[in-house]
Amino acid sequence: MDYKLKNTVSKDAFRYGYLSKKIYPYIKPYWARIILNLIIAIPLGLLDGVVALSLRPYMDLVINGNPSVTYNLLGHNLQLQASFAAIIPIAIVLFAAFQGILKYVSHYLTDWLGQKISNSLKIDLFKKLTSLDPQFYDANSSGLVLTRFLSDPDAASKNIINTLQSFISTIFGIVGLVAVLLYNSWQLAIVGVTVMAIAITPVTFIRKKIKSVSNATMVVGGDMTTNFNETFTGNKIMAAYNLQSAQNKKFEGQIHRQFDLAMSLTKRVGWMSPIMYFICSIGIALVFWYGTHLILTQQLTAGSMMSFVTSLLLLYKPVKNLGNTLTNLQSTFVAMSRVFELFDLVPYIKDEKNALVLNGLRYDINFNNVCFEYEPGLPVLKNINLRVNKNETIALVGNSGGGKSTLVSLIPRFYDVVSGSVEFDGVDIRKYTLESLRNQISFVFQDNFLFSGTIKDNILMGNKNASDEDIQKVLKLAHLDEFVLTLENGIDTYVGERGASLSGGQRQRVAIARAMIKDAPIVILDEATSALDNESEAVVQKALDNLIQNKTVFVIAHRLSTIKNADRIAVINEGELVELGTHDQLMSIDNGKYKHLYEMQFKTQEEIC
Ligand SMILES: Nc1ncnc2c1ncn2[C@@H]1O[C@H](COP(=O)(O)OP(=O)(O)OP(=O)(O)O)[C@@H](O)[C@H]1O
Ligand SMILES: [Mg+2]
Repeated sequence: MDYKLKNTVSKDAFRYGYLSKKIYPYIKPYWARIILNLIIAIPLGLLDGVVALSLRPYMDLVINGNPSVTYNLLGHNLQLQASFAAIIPIAIVLFAAFQGILKYVSHYLTDWLGQKISNSLKIDLFKKLTSLDPQFYDANSSGLVLTRFLSDPDAASKNIINTLQSFISTIFGIVGLVAVLLYNSWQLAIVGVTVMAIAITPVTFIRKKIKSVSNATMVVGGDMTTNFNETFTGNKIMAAYNLQSAQNKKFEGQIHRQFDLAMSLTKRVGWMSPIMYFICSIGIALVFWYGTHLILTQQLTAGSMMSFVTSLLLLYKPVKNLGNTLTNLQSTFVAMSRVFELFDLVPYIKDEKNALVLNGLRYDINFNNVCFEYEPGLPVLKNINLRVNKNETIALVGNSGGGKSTLVSLIPRFYDVVSGSVEFDGVDIRKYTLESLRNQISFVFQDNFLFSGTIKDNILMGNKNASDEDIQKVLKLAHLDEFVLTLENGIDTYVGERGASLSGGQRQRVAIARAMIKDAPIVILDEATSALDNESEAVVQKALDNLIQNKTVFVIAHRLSTIKNADRIAVINEGELVELGTHDQLMSIDNGKYKHLYEMQFKTQEEIC
């Protein structure tokens, strides 16, 4: 299975049966309301025909001054007196009121149903997003995922009710009006309907074009969202490298592309309406010409003619709508297929059946012949064998891009090994539940992410049941207590999105406090101090020293003191474990990799210190 989402139409967009089955659970709870809404669409559609029909007795009784007329209605003779005409004004008002009420109820139901269905889709979609592993986020741009999330569920659910409703009312509108046409004069009806059918054929030709343009517009929209996101997250880089104008150019390009796409559609679609009007006018001309003949030869009354022409004019709208409705229905299925494409993604990393609950570490963590690759065929870790004892601190060093961060990200199963295994106390970690496994691990990253909220909120994410005393304790151990005292709102200070209002060192210490309060037996520190200057590094280092006491620790470090203090050092170069031992052991290897690294990198630190 591939995590990469298609930019536009997913492969399932035209599998209507599959899509209907998928959407069914979401509409099922509301089936009664949906049916009611669709039933309301029937009279709403038919009502146009009633208007046209009522013109016939009006013309015959009032304009032509007949004292009474007889109509054949479904085999029964219906005689209407001139006084019937007096009812027509009242009927118009009642009719409008009735139509208004139906329209309101239908509008209300459509909105209500659309929102409800869209909400449940969105909730499930978000659950799906949070359940996916990092590989999904590596493979897809934020813009693409956001578009999927923000617009597709609405398009898939709101539109489906809307479109079905208007489809039904359009069909019944057409049926009603065609019935009135036939009732008035079948000969004229043949002329009118044939011309109308010719007039709408161009619509079917351009539907394909509309679809391809709307897909292309979506891709550009996704790119724009990505651009926005990058401008946000990368705003400092943008300022530092004076990338504003490049970024603006990119955006302008996207806007222009959107414009071109929209205009290419207008160019192709814009002539449709005039052509349709033109063909229809020929139809109406033919109807008048032939109608006049029928009236003059007494085959048709003036009332029938009036009623006929009115129906024909009214018919234009629903017939034209039918094309739009079918296009909308197709777009709805396309949106639905995009939503369900996301739903169908199965996380690579998930609990096995009958997974065990891990309760802490007793003996050791073992990397057993571990091989890993992000891209098939490009090995990043090659046959790593490494046993780390409980409460041991192991430092990982090596060349940049060698695979250190990758190795530690296998422990909480951000990624799974391609072959070999990572074992806790001799049991493959894939046998444990993800939740219980991750409960045993505190991770402090180089670039620590804080969520929008207060300092306290962020610390409590490590352990939501922690008491105020626990918080005070970790604040002290993370060397945050003095800093927090300087804040007006203390630990209730809002840190801004991604912790923007804190310094790098402060952010890191909040992250360390979060890791401390979790009190997990395994601690992973990925270059936790590399982004800091010497002074704040010293403070953070003290905080880290407190964090790692009596823990099993993996530390990717650049500071010599951290490396020297580790129980053992593993050197990882180009995905291979090339050396393993204590500082002294590794230094005694002639031409050793660690010795080389030490001479190149760490020795200068020692001289400075
Ligand atoms: N998400 C990813 N998708 C594809 N390739 C990746 C991904 N993350 C890392 N890599 C590649 O895997 C290799 C190992 O990267 P890793 O981050 O583990 O190195 P590292 O030893 O931590 O390096 P550094 O010391 O610079 O942090 C690199 O070649 C990198 O390009
Ligand atoms: Mg790294």
